[in-house]
Amino acid sequence: MPADDASRDDAHRVTFFDTTLRDGEQSPRIHLNLREKVEIAQQLARLGVDVIEAGFPISSPGDLEGVRAVAREVRGPTIAALARANEKDIAVAWEGVRDAAKPRIHTFIATSDIHMAHKLRMDRSQVLATAIDAVRQAAGLCPDVEFSCEDATRSDVSFVAEVIGAAIAEGAGTINIPDTVGYTMPTEFQRFLMELYERTPSLADVTLSVHCHNDLGLAVANSLAGLEVGARQVEVCVNGIGERAGNASLEEMAMILRTRADDLRGLWSGIETTEITRASRMVSRLTGYEVQPNKAVVGRNAFAHEAGIHQHGVLANPLTYEIMDAQSVGLLHSELVLGKHSGRHALRQALSDLGYALSREELDEVFGRFKEVADRKGELTAMDLEALMEDEMRVDHGRSLDLREIAFAGESGTQATARVVVRDADGTDHYGQGTGDGPVAAIIGAIDAAVGSTGTLLEYTVSAVTDGPDALGEARVLCEIGGRQFTGQGVSPDVLEASAIAYLRAVTASRNADATERTAGSGV
Ligand code: KIV
Ligand code: ZN
Repeated sequence: MPADDASRDDAHRVTFFDTTLRDGEQSPRIHLNLREKVEIAQQLARLGVDVIEAGFPISSPGDLEGVRAVAREVRGPTIAALARANEKDIAVAWEGVRDAAKPRIHTFIATSDIHMAHKLRMDRSQVLATAIDAVRQAAGLCPDVEFSCEDATRSDVSFVAEVIGAAIAEGAGTINIPDTVGYTMPTEFQRFLMELYERTPSLADVTLSVHCHNDLGLAVANSLAGLEVGARQVEVCVNGIGERAGNASLEEMAMILRTRADDLRGLWSGIETTEITRASRMVSRLTGYEVQPNKAVVGRNAFAHEAGIHQHGVLANPLTYEIMDAQSVGLLHSELVLGKHSGRHALRQALSDLGYALSREELDEVFGRFKEVADRKGELTAMDLEALMEDEMRVDHGRSLDLREIAFAGESGTQATARVVVRDADGTDHYGQGTGDGPVAAIIGAIDAAVGSTGTLLEYTVSAVTDGPDALGEARVLCEIGGRQFTGQGVSPDVLEASAIAYLRAVTASRNADATERTAGSGV
């Protein structure tokens, strides 16, 4: 239970458990490659999260590899893997995290009547026995075990109390209470958690965690309500992504704890809030999920008065409208870092300042790209470099279609024509020509003609990476290809070229989808 003491002590430290790479990655149309997963995990480590849930290893070989890579390469946070409460899932989850300096197995089973009857087809005694076996097996493999009752908030509280009591007795050190379908409300959730404390005295000896979904827009409010009655772990995702309406958003939780510290009776976190904006941009780019402009903390309007809408009050005294300052979330004006005469050494240094450690081969690739862009654009800022690096990560080397050449013809009011040369993963060049009502339709036609795809553009956006007329352009597409939806993103000084790259990425993702297909029936 929380103390009234306002000091920064261990008892009031809130553990941030980030599940962007697991619950977040389960969002429709998100397909992260290995490099992207590791890069996001490295950024989460810079952010200071305590636990990274790196994936659900049984769900696909790609997920297992992703968890393994994060466990081996990312130092600092605990690395967790999700497993259903069965022997095979738990063994594979352990395979994923065993090389981490601090591994965790997170196992779960549903406890609500509706899930037990219709999904698990088990009665209460079977669920209890399965939970006990699972936690025992996990604790035999890994010193750190988390146990969750899926759909806990729609479960009978006395049954949840019985199951978590048994899980604690078998060695679970963290008990997570998910609001799986985002149904509960803050005061109701508090009563539920307080009743668990009353019914299960051993809960006071372990960490109580909350995992709230946002179906009614209450994920953050419910998580905060949980912390107020004793939870000391929050499960969150960057930009609030996650199944359906998403999970509690990391940045909102972190900034609530920082901004309202005086009113939260000593609750605090180890989050380095100045890394929030970068994490948000990275996750948005790599997942293809745009952040809504009015999103708290990371939406582009969240600090709009900083970006030029100079309200009289803000100019007179920022505290008139600002409850957080833009610098505290890392929203700094982009400083010039490199020009077209900058060499390999300067690029390596600038990237290393941004936290990217590159091998010689990777630096060669990025340097080629940097030179090409710097020749066309002149100067590159830190935000441009970030955009280029993240764009490079999207290239699934050996499995990607690369745009080698692109040319357009057409005037306003006439049909546009595009010609492309696309290089296949095996090095073969394919030529295609397309026409359309506008240049983007012509590009899609040309790419389809070159590689034999048939895509329909569902959504298309173009934005500038930085301010000013010479900004890098970033294009995002959502397409239907072969009856399924795929996203793509591309960055270039030329927005039409960025659009072509984005569409090619979507086509590449559709081609690679079979290889990364999730194992049937393993979704949560
Ligand atoms: O929402 C949920 O119940 C989950 C569990 C697997 C923790 O994601
Ligand atoms: Zn969830």
